[in-house]
Amino acid sequence: MKLWGGRFTKKTNQWVEEFNASISFDKELVEEDIQGSIAHVRMLGACGILTDEEARQIHQGLLSIRQKVREGKVEFSIEHEDIHMNIEKMLIDEIGPVGGKLHTGRSRNDQVALDMHLYIRKETVELAKQIFTLQQALLGQAEKHVDTILPGYTHLQRAQPVRLAHHLLAYVSMFERDVDRLFDSYKRVNHCPLGAGAIAGTTFPVDRQMVAKELGFSALYDNSMDAVSDRDYLVEFLSICSLVMVHLSRLSEELILWSSEEFQYIVLDDAFCTGSSMMPQKKNPDIPELIRGKTGRVFGHLLAMLTTLKALPLTYNKDLQEDKEGIFDTVTTLKGSLGLMAAMIETMEVNVQQMKKNASRGFANATDLADYLVNKGIPFRKAHEIVGKLVLYSLEHQKTLTDCSLEEFRRFSPEIGEDVYQVLELDQVVEARKSFGGTAREQVLETLARKKETLEKN
Ligand code: ARG
Repeated sequence: MKLWGGRFTKKTNQWVEEFNASISFDKELVEEDIQGSIAHVRMLGACGILTDEEARQIHQGLLSIRQKVREGKVEFSIEHEDIHMNIEKMLIDEIGPVGGKLHTGRSRNDQVALDMHLYIRKETVELAKQIFTLQQALLGQAEKHVDTILPGYTHLQRAQPVRLAHHLLAYVSMFERDVDRLFDSYKRVNHCPLGAGAIAGTTFPVDRQMVAKELGFSALYDNSMDAVSDRDYLVEFLSICSLVMVHLSRLSEELILWSSEEFQYIVLDDAFCTGSSMMPQKKNPDIPELIRGKTGRVFGHLLAMLTTLKALPLTYNKDLQEDKEGIFDTVTTLKGSLGLMAAMIETMEVNVQQMKKNASRGFANATDLADYLVNKGIPFRKAHEIVGKLVLYSLEHQKTLTDCSLEEFRRFSPEIGEDVYQVLELDQVVEARKSFGGTAREQVLETLARKKETLEKN
């Protein structure tokens, strides 16, 4: 007999049973479901809706079920559809008909909303912690490579030389914003929906504050219809996770490029790479590739959630059961991706010589020559043109700018003097960018210190 079987005359079609059930995935919420039920029943007792003895028995029953769950001793069944009814059925089996009083003043609609709020709250904190670990790994490499210089790229063409620390700190900043977004969204997740009932509230004299307080919520949903139909917090969570994946995919892409034979900037640790079944020489960066690939599935979950919600009439509709799998998969995907990325960053070897070699070639100092001419009184636009011609000349003669003699320089601009060579030196080019947030040593060191301090505060 179903827990809701009273008004039915027929057994549920087996196909419907399978199609309708969510237990195969919402069993992920078992801890949250029991935690929420304990808070609910304690409140029912405190408000005199159940007797102290009834509340005590139910509370005990829930604790004993939780114990069995933790010991792996329970089996869930699709006959009881979802985690909520599976637990309720177990409770009734465990303590008898009094177990049937647990659901007083509650609906699965506010119950499932409560479970998801508890789950997202927990995972928000977990993800933030994992981002910190990754930031730590990035900071560790940044500290080692303050004086490692590589070409900075725009359009994937060598643009201006930068410190590797500066490059890595850019990622630390991205992830800092992600953590900020997670903390900000936490404020909105931290509203308690329980007490909304199925849609309109409950006829019992419940104390919603008490439940919220016991579960650590900072506020109550102030509209029961909103409480049971709101999934905004899931969209927010998925969109923050999508951005985290965007950042991870950009970092992955750079690891893939940098570890290629063409770049030879880094060597990923053997423990994080795999081989080819046919080509014996291969060492493939499968893990960053997979992270890059998995970005797509997280975007997919975000779009699926938005699409599920679009034009959905108030309040609860079964469509909302579709909110879970994408969320759970997103959490699994992010945890794996963040953890592995941190380990790869921590263990990668940097080829300092190769980075420097490339930074010294490819006219990464051309802007500095233009700036030099500006300092001699030439308008920037004109200086740009002069240096452009010099670059063309150098390319035709297979030279770098510093290979040009003073006489050659002067053919393009008589304002150029001996002091130009010092300005074009790689170290000088990097050091000259002292503006706030620039790649000069003191700026990078200050940023590093600031980021370390922020991380330690968290
Ligand atoms: N398994 C359901 C879900 O995840 C729980 C809520 C069911 N409510 C209902 N009225 N059928 O959405």
